[in-house]
This record gives sequence, structure tokens and C-alpha cells, in this order.
Amino acid sequence: MNEQDVKKIIKENIEKKNAPGLVRLAFHDSGTFCKNTNSGGVSGSITNPSELGREENDGLKKSADLIILLKSKLPSITVPDIIAVAGAAAIEICGGPIINVSLGRKESFDDAPKARLPDENDGSEKLKKTFDRMGFTTKELVVLSGAHTLGDARDKAFTDDRLTFNNNYYKNLLNKNLPSHLGRFKSDEVLTKDDELLQYVEQYAKNQNLFFEDFKNTYIKMTQLGFS
Ligand code: HEM
Repeated sequence: MNEQDVKKIIKENIEKKNAPGLVRLAFHDSGTFCKNTNSGGVSGSITNPSELGREENDGLKKSADLIILLKSKLPSITVPDIIAVAGAAAIEICGGPIINVSLGRKESFDDAPKARLPDENDGSEKLKKTFDRMGFTTKELVVLSGAHTLGDARDKAFTDDRLTFNNNYYKNLLNKNLPSHLGRFKSDEVLTKDDELLQYVEQYAKNQNLFFEDFKNTYIKMTQLGFS
């Protein structure tokens, strides 16, 4: 079974409303990676009840349950492959770029190392450090943050539509007419307060095609962390 077949079956079994959680789950399965110690990273362990119980994974149980359901329909595919393809399928059904990830990730259900995911109250230096530990550049930090165009935690006035994947996240970050902190985290706000990060926010706000292309490539990289 190839990636296209897997994606087709996933799309038949998910609904649009599941999309934000599936994209967040793909990040939480991979973002524990440390490039220096080659530990953490994609494994499927995010579906462990013990990992789901961590504060940083609050709200992800429904998405993890959906992955377990998908696994029952795709018994020959590993859980981390299903997570990676489900996130890509979710982005696609919300109007984002078509992302074809490869298959072959190994499954391991040892809990990932703790305290490696970013926090909504992190400042820009902390975020840069955390993403560098995962192996990402500052540009990749900004492009991946664009996933926050999706989701429940956003106010409609901030992203217009929680189920549409577009570059409004960046446009709205730069929109001085929106009340500050409206539906955003500090970790979103700080992208405009640091010149190195702001230049990418401005580029992606101007050019959705560039955002889609860079997001596609960085999502593929994210879903390989600890596995390439
Ligand atoms: C930059 C650092 C990041 C921080 C501090 C952060 C933090 C958060 C927090 C606190 C939430 C709200 C969770 C809730 O509903 O209670 C959230 C939602 C979300 N995050 Fe992030 N996140 C970051 C990066 C990312 C990345 C890299 C991705 C994916 C590529 C991502 C995808 C999402 C999505 C799609 C949601 C909405 C989930 C939903 O509504 O169900 N985030 N994030």
C-alpha cells in the first residue's frame, strides 16, 4: 500500500472538524526530537495515555483516538506513518498545500522525553532555541507556526475561519487594527517583535504560494525528525 492509498483511506474516515487536532498531533509526535542526542522524534508514542496526560498534550486525546481507529483500518501501516499522513490529509482538506510524505517510520511506544515541546508563553529566544534543538532554522519556526491558522484556540476575528488553511495567520499578526492578543498566544505575538522572525512573517503575509511551498517542505522535514 502506498502513501496515496493510505491518504485516501484516512480522508474517507476523518471529518474536516478533526483537522486542527490531527495537525497538532503530528507536531507533538515529532517535536520532542533533539538533534544533539538523536533522541525523541516521530514514533507514535504520542498515542500513549501516559504522554497524552502531560499538560503540553492537553486536548489531544480525541485526535489520538482517531489515529487508533485509523490504525484498525490500516493494520499494515505504522502509527507514526498514519500520524504523518493524517496531518497532511488534514491540511489538504482545509485547502492547504498537497503534501506527500514518504512511509516507513518505525513504531516505538516508549514515552518521549519530557519538557521538549514549546510553551505558549515562550519568548522568541526560547522558541528559537527549542526549534534549533529539533533541527529547524528560524525561518522554519515561522513557517510551522502558520499551522495556527487552524484551530479552536483562535478567535474568528483573528483567523476568519478555523478550518481554512491559508496565510491569514501572518496577515492578522501584522494587522494593527485587530485588538492585541485577540485569540493569540504570546508565542504567536513574539514573531512580530523580533526582526529576524518578522521578516518571514512579512514574506508569508504577502505571498501565500511561498508560505504553502515552504510549509510543505518543512512539514515533510518535521514528520521525519528522528527518522532520517
Ligand atoms: C511555536 C511554538 C508553538 C506553541 C507554543 C504552540 C502552542 C499551542 C497551544 C497552547 C495550542 C492550544 C491547544 C488547545 O487547544 O488547548 C495550540 C494549538 C494548535 N497548534 Fe500549536 N504551538 C506551536 C507550534 C505549532 C506547530 C509547529 C504546529 C504544527 C505544525 C502547531 C499546530 C497547532 C494546531 C493545528 C493547533 C489547533 C489545535 C486544535 O484546535 O485542536 N503548533 N498550539
